Amino acid sequence: MSAESLPVPRSVPRVETKFRRIVTDFPVPQSLPVLERLHRHEICAMRGQPPVVWDRAEGFQVYDAWGNMWLDWSSGVLITNAGHGRQQIVDAIVRQASHKLLTNYCFPSEIRAELCERLLSLLPEPLKRIFLLTTGSETVEFAIKLARTHGQKVGGRGKIVVVSFDNAFHGRTLGAQQAGGIPALKEWIGNLDPGFVQVPFPDGYWGEDTSFELFEATLAQKGIAPKQVCAVMLETYQGGTSAFAPLHYIQALRQWCDGHKALLIFDEVQAGFGRTGSMWGFEHYGVLPDLTTLGKGISGSLPISAIAGRPDLMDLHGPGSASSTHTGNPVCAAAALASVDLIVGEGLAANARAMGDILHDGLSSIQRRFPQAGFLAGKGLVAGLACVHPEHRQPDGQLAHDIVWRAVEKGLLMFAPVGPMGCTIKIAPPLTITADAVRDGCQALEESFGEILALRSTGSAIR
Ligand SMILES: Cc1ncc(COP(=O)(O)O)c(C=O)c1O
Repeated sequence: MSAESLPVPRSVPRVETKFRRIVTDFPVPQSLPVLERLHRHEICAMRGQPPVVWDRAEGFQVYDAWGNMWLDWSSGVLITNAGHGRQQIVDAIVRQASHKLLTNYCFPSEIRAELCERLLSLLPEPLKRIFLLTTGSETVEFAIKLARTHGQKVGGRGKIVVVSFDNAFHGRTLGAQQAGGIPALKEWIGNLDPGFVQVPFPDGYWGEDTSFELFEATLAQKGIAPKQVCAVMLETYQGGTSAFAPLHYIQALRQWCDGHKALLIFDEVQAGFGRTGSMWGFEHYGVLPDLTTLGKGISGSLPISAIAGRPDLMDLHGPGSASSTHTGNPVCAAAALASVDLIVGEGLAANARAMGDILHDGLSSIQRRFPQAGFLAGKGLVAGLACVHPEHRQPDGQLAHDIVWRAVEKGLLMFAPVGPMGCTIKIAPPLTITADAVRDGCQALEESFGEILALRSTGSAIR
């Protein structure tokens, strides 16, 4: 949906597979009043997603109120790792709400104790202290606070530089945006803090040089001495591309951090809770962070997040100095406990690994057929397929957009493309997805590529 206008319904082919059903024009004409109300009342910065009006979501499918059913490859935004609308999560929420403890601020409650214990039982040493919050951005802010506090403690007032990566996304609050690596998102700040610097992310495609020497050389070029660095923070895989860094790079980074008394922070807000085929995304690197931030898939539903880390770091600030109005909200905590039980009990990380193999096979075959699908990255049930102009590898955000919209018209739900110039089609189904459903989605995506590129080649209107 453009920022200016409401979308106009158009006739689309009807679809009926085991996993997708489209029985109306799109957007659904009867949904226009809802779209219109949001358009009228909500900030325009919220626009940009395919105009599917969600009514109900269950398992790996999303339904509207007019008979359409989408195979969900969004998980909202990588939230519903345990599946949409799981009865166990619903029951836990209802049970806790009926018990009539709906909030508890920082006052002790048994359910908060239970969740802290449960999450820490799943995290490896040394990540043995935890702080529950509400959003991913808040956990990133707290990570920055701890990093700078620790830096100044071990290296004096100048040790406050947080190094992060080009194209990184860590949230939309002030510190998180400064740690982010997308210049357009920071223009509004006006007086960027020189204590946040970014270096190239070694994805091997947009950043071809994957040597660790580039990390050191970039810092030197930016005039940052290692002794000034209090932390290096990275998304375990970059959300904008789904790319992981090479193993050798992260292992060298861990050593560099140790050598310079800098913390290593993995932002696992997207990567955690089984998404990449292991419980934690950082397991793929064979190193441990000093701090890690968690969110999204933690509850599969209600807003809750967490930061976990080395106890000596997490306890740098004394009693009474950390709080948040909704920290460990009891209803959200109940949802998180139920969601974690499902992820562990149903082996959803292993399912993500197995289904991820099928997904990545299907996407590789799309990439072989269409040179415009330039860069494929990800692990387990997260993937990014970047659309480019194959002659010169420039991002083709319009192509990605048109393909996603066409896929949605076919009953395959994805959110709007992300990454460099919005050229990455991001794929992140609930971890409960089955092999047949993965294949059905790949089929719809492949058709979408074929149809949009055919229209382009004849100069026909796409919509
Ligand atoms: C890696 C990462 N960190 C932090 C955030 C911010 O989380 P939230 O939107 O819950 O504030 C996001 C959100 O997309 C994310 O992907």
